[in-house]
Amino acid sequence: MIRTRNRGSGPATVVARPPARAAWRGPRPATNALPSTLDYAALPAAELRRRIVRRKKQLHAVLLGHNYQRVEIQDLSDYVGDSLGLSQQAAATDADVIVFCGVHFMAETAKILAPQKTVLMPDLHAGCPMADFVTAQALRRLKADYPDAAVVAYVNSSAEVKAESDICCTSSNAVRVVESIPRERPIIFVPDKNLARYVQERTGRDNIIAWEGYCYVHDDLVLDELEKAKRAYPHAKVVIHPEARKDLLERADYVASTSQMVELTEKHDALIIGTERGLVDRLRQRFPQKTLIPLSGAAICGNMKLNTLAKLTWCLDHVEHEIVLDEDVRRRAERALRRMLELSGGWRVPTKAEEEMDLAGARPRGCGCA
Ligand code: 13P
Ligand code: SF4
Repeated sequence: MIRTRNRGSGPATVVARPPARAAWRGPRPATNALPSTLDYAALPAAELRRRIVRRKKQLHAVLLGHNYQRVEIQDLSDYVGDSLGLSQQAAATDADVIVFCGVHFMAETAKILAPQKTVLMPDLHAGCPMADFVTAQALRRLKADYPDAAVVAYVNSSAEVKAESDICCTSSNAVRVVESIPRERPIIFVPDKNLARYVQERTGRDNIIAWEGYCYVHDDLVLDELEKAKRAYPHAKVVIHPEARKDLLERADYVASTSQMVELTEKHDALIIGTERGLVDRLRQRFPQKTLIPLSGAAICGNMKLNTLAKLTWCLDHVEHEIVLDEDVRRRAERALRRMLELSGGWRVPTKAEEEMDLAGARPRGCGCA
């Protein structure tokens, strides 16, 4: 097996399958597979779509796509969602093959939860730079400094980091996860400092030790842009992803995961949306009659956009790139993820009465998960 090096944001645990396949008993490459992704890129989009649908059936594959994927990939996905929803789908699917269109930690999470399945991703370089902020080794050093602390790992982290953690969380359940830990117990929270600070404020805890990581897309959203958007659309509600900075979250009507943003859009006619641009474009297509304003036109996650129809077709035809994990790491990471899944599933859009209480400051704002 060829173990790939950590190139840029691509994690070191990825293993590329070698050309010799004699001993491999999993799904086979398509007999009409083309040699390279460039060959696929030369095909018309309609032909790529046809091939994808056919190959998915042949392989008994399910296609999971994150909300930030290109629209054409979302259109072909069997399920589109946020990190929590996608991990729940991966854990529950009866497909033989999971093709993950998202970033690396998401495909890895699918493999952790569905070890018997073949998990593929179209581009190995689709990593999450925030996840790369923390390594298992660095986390072990911090744990040694705080031996009594519980470790909460945002799912935007590698399998090795999850394996060093007590419980995982996503943007939609972080408050609930932290509240499940006894109040007096210190918490090491990795790797997102913005999410850590948000959770700290929502829970009123003063014992969260936050890692210094952040998401370059959300951390770049700035207050000036929000003020401008609010002036231009004074009736619009504001929803911001919890990976954004404190000053923005303080001015938001809702703090929400990407799928929670979709739910909120179903409910409101005008929204200013502080997250990756792709989600807003998708929502505008789906709800052309609504006023949906991206907080920043420049908020693009280049990593998510590495997945294309051509690479997806290549991936299905070649049964590449497979996620392979060390079994001990996988098992320990699964424990942290399962603990999170046991606590999850309760988020909903606040009721009218709760929203009025929110506005009156009578209950904490943001996601209804806590
Ligand atoms: P969600 O779980 O809210 O989709 O967030 C994932 C992510 O990477 C946001 O940048
Ligand atoms: Fe990672 Fe940020 Fe991209 Fe989400 S938007 S995948 S946190 S870099």
